[in-house]
Amino acid sequence: MSKILETNGLTVEFSGFSAISDLHFSLNRGELRVVLGPNGAGKTTLMDLITGKTKPKSGNIMFNGNDITGMEPFDISKLGVGRKFQGPNIFDNMTVIENIEVAFKGNHSVLKALFFKKNSEMKDRINYVLDKINLKIKYRDIAGNLSHGEKQWLEMGMLLVQDPELIILDEPTAGMTAEETYQTGELIQNLFKDRSVIVVEHDMAFVRQVAQYVTVLHQGRLLAEGTLEEIENNTKVQEVYLKEGAHA
Ligand SMILES: Nc1ncnc2c1ncn2[C@@H]1O[C@H](COP(=O)(O)OP(=O)(O)OP(=O)(O)O)[C@@H](O)[C@H]1O
Ligand SMILES: [Mg+2]
Repeated sequence: MSKILETNGLTVEFSGFSAISDLHFSLNRGELRVVLGPNGAGKTTLMDLITGKTKPKSGNIMFNGNDITGMEPFDISKLGVGRKFQGPNIFDNMTVIENIEVAFKGNHSVLKALFFKKNSEMKDRINYVLDKINLKIKYRDIAGNLSHGEKQWLEMGMLLVQDPELIILDEPTAGMTAEETYQTGELIQNLFKDRSVIVVEHDMAFVRQVAQYVTVLHQGRLLAEGTLEEIENNTKVQEVYLKEGAHA
């Protein structure tokens, strides 16, 4: 299976503190990987490195055969890496469909994107996305009035419409009800079926629902990797979670 993402000896320090140390991480094309780890394990920092928000001290990151080490976030996103930060990040004053349209024309200004003349291919794509995120009947609603879960789904739709090959989701179910969390699990599996996905998540019900293969980070290092069953039976993982009293 071909690798879409690979990090080699990735290391980053914040004033002498190693947040990620000598990390070798890789993701197969089309895979959905869950990244676990106690607070401060370096999960978000790893996502920051992959998306160019943080620059590594050493090591490299290959995406789709391109060396993206040290590249700017905008250029990495143009190569096909999409990211959803924790918490909704949408335009509250605009309608649901306007949010999707703006994301579609991500490289234009908001104003230009709104007045952009849609061709039928774009309309089809936007409708497809609205349907997938279960917001078709609410397409003219003001985004700010959506529920917390719906806002998160709208943002996932805004990601999908940009057609990224690799999608990074940092705690997509944070703040959701159990029902919304379950629906999000279904949505992610369905929405990003043909894509490569990295999900950072603490909610174990969600992890059980979606996980194929799991990576566990601890103190900036790779602690364990395997199926969820292997991870749950891993004594190193059990020790860390017991000691840190982590979420899981
Ligand atoms: N910009 C920064 N400057 C200084 N220290 C940082 C910075 N970003 C992260 N850190 C530190 O690096 C470590 C890893 O943080 P990170 O946010 O990656 O953890 P995490 O695994 O995402 O944790 P959580 O589960 O709480 O989200 C923490 O000790 C954090 O304080
Ligand atoms: Mg984090």
